[in-house]
Amino acid sequence: MKILITAGPTREKIDPVRYISNYSSGKMGYALAEAAVRKGHKVTLVSGPVSLVPPKSVKLISVESAAEMACEVRRLAKSADLIIMAAAVADYTSAKFAKDKIKKKKAVLSIKLKKTEDILAGLGKSKKKGQMLVGFAAETSDLLRNAKLKIEKKNLDWIVANEVGRKDRGFSSDNNAATLISREGKKIVLPLQSKKLLAEEILKIIVRQAFQPVIN
Ligand code: CTP
Repeated sequence: MKILITAGPTREKIDPVRYISNYSSGKMGYALAEAAVRKGHKVTLVSGPVSLVPPKSVKLISVESAAEMACEVRRLAKSADLIIMAAAVADYTSAKFAKDKIKKKKAVLSIKLKKTEDILAGLGKSKKKGQMLVGFAAETSDLLRNAKLKIEKKNLDWIVANEVGRKDRGFSSDNNAATLISREGKKIVLPLQSKKLLAEEILKIIVRQAFQPVIN
């Protein structure tokens, strides 16, 4: 299969020396890319700024902002059989980029933010027949309910629901637990394990489904 994977955070510039971002390390997306090439798939990885070495045989495209990621993903999505959006795309970016460094004057400083493009929702709208779309849901509460809503909202085939904000899993950790939820409501609980093993499990389940489509 031709698989497109996104990974890592995005960085949204405020001024020449500052940015908004999140704690994503990229480890989950990179582990998925590695698992996919090992199984013989053709993998393109669109990655935000991370300090990881890309797996061999993966075509790496490095981006910085949500807008840049959106641009590359849109271009590459056309020829992908399976797209996995593991990136933690920033939801907001600075409404205005300050050309000069913002000086330390005010005691309280407000910065106006505007929404970034929802890349995955866009892919859901233009999904080709036979193309599979997988999202991640990063939640701190109501994990399954919030994840299910995202399946509908973004027209996904699967969502990987995972908890963030806990020390033993998620974002920067080497380990994670997740619940895979399908569009048809199938739920597969994957317990806490290394991101490497978790990635192999996730990929196995999704690829199996790709070759055995559910007939409604
Ligand atoms: N996503 C995206 N573009 C965005 C924001 C998110 O493509 N601008 C994708 C992520 O890569 C992930 C999925 O949407 O696969 C869900 O991301 P998440 O952060 O859990 O949810 P949001 O849609 O951003 O909603 P909220 O932050 O309100 O939970």
